Amino acid sequence: MGNKTKELLEISKKYEPSCLNWQAPVVWDHAKGAEIWDVDGKHYIDWTSGVLVANVGHAHPALAEALAKQANRLLNPFDFPTPERILLTKRLVELFPPHLDKAFFVTTGSEATDAAIRMAKRYSGKFEILSFWGGFHGRTYGPMSVAGSQKIKKGFGPTVPGTIFSPYPYCYRCPFGKTFPDCDMYCLKFLDKVIEVESTGDLGALIIEPYQGAAGFIFPPDGFLKRLENWAKERDLVFILDEVQSSYGRTGTMWAFEHENLKPNIVTLGKGIGSGVPIAAVVTESKIVNSLGTGEMSSTLGGNPLSCAGALAVLDIMEKEKLVERAKNLGGYLKERLVDLKKKYNFIGDVRGRGMVYGIEFVKDKDSKEPAPELTKEIVLKCVESGLMVGKVGLYGNVLRVAPPLVIEKELIDKSVEIFDSVLSKIKR
Ligand SMILES: Cc1ncc(COP(=O)(O)O)c(C=O)c1O
Repeated sequence: MGNKTKELLEISKKYEPSCLNWQAPVVWDHAKGAEIWDVDGKHYIDWTSGVLVANVGHAHPALAEALAKQANRLLNPFDFPTPERILLTKRLVELFPPHLDKAFFVTTGSEATDAAIRMAKRYSGKFEILSFWGGFHGRTYGPMSVAGSQKIKKGFGPTVPGTIFSPYPYCYRCPFGKTFPDCDMYCLKFLDKVIEVESTGDLGALIIEPYQGAAGFIFPPDGFLKRLENWAKERDLVFILDEVQSSYGRTGTMWAFEHENLKPNIVTLGKGIGSGVPIAAVVTESKIVNSLGTGEMSSTLGGNPLSCAGALAVLDIMEKEKLVERAKNLGGYLKERLVDLKKKYNFIGDVRGRGMVYGIEFVKDKDSKEPAPELTKEIVLKCVESGLMVGKVGLYGNVLRVAPPLVIEKELIDKSVEIFDSVLSKIKR
């Protein structure tokens, strides 16, 4: 560890809370595209995008220029519209199917979840919401109440009443012990049983991630989301799709819902929308958002001109550099390379994902599928030591996330896979 890193980490330990739980002892100094340098000048290839944020790459000059220009002009009139906000709203809404005709800006993904739940409850007039095992939608009280994991809520007392949970299709570890496709998506049929037992008859909405990020990059089988949507429509439920991390080209389409031509009633956005600038959004239907009265929902910094100017620049960059196509094509190549590694190592249980987002699940061995969190921790530290910036997630702490900025070059993909392979080859089993 370099001297500057050591010095700063000592200060951090003294003044910052231990819950911050850094992935590895590295202090980022600056970054460009898909490369990062720490405060001691060590170089890394980025497989994190700073937790799926920097979709357009780190320190993109067009984003930096837009922010500098805006900072010199206007930062924050609350209670009054600005050109940046109005133009961003129009541009964003035009990227959605026609029924999603309104956008509302907030600052974080958690706030977007809260706003979506409030809108769904007001519109439906019902208080119950269906969520899924392993689901993660943020850490404030609303999102915590729909979190499908104890990790977020243990010890915090009663959550907001009304959430009903059902298993997410985690096919690698099916909670019903079934196998896809023979199961015919039993988890969907199970929904009716859950509602029959748990609901008071006041179910108004459901919230789901197109793939579960924090739970371990769990991708549902093709067709699951469409069938779920049909199930929800038959019951007149508001369908909230949490695209805070799956949007902005991450999965190889602008929005993850495009893969199955879904028609959600509410879509939440975050992370990639600002590519590092704090902004998040709820995109929805007029009839839903207009059920809120004047002043019932707003946020001091939501839609501030600086963030909106940044988000407009992000859209320009995505279009100009064709980042969605890039994520699809180069991401396919990355997937092939990762799947090759799965064949090579008995401790890689599963590789799943699409576009520029993959989860690699480490296990004791392929037959037992027993999660290997200690091994995962060791791999994270060794990758970082070797110049590959990675992080781990998952219900069992045994999933490595592979989510580089969408601008990553093929040469850097090759180099990063080489580093990864070399780290794995030295693991003693
Ligand atoms: C799917 C999903 N929803 C919501 C959130 C919460 O976003 P934020 O951390 O910006 O509050 C996250 C953050 O990781 C997320 O992955």
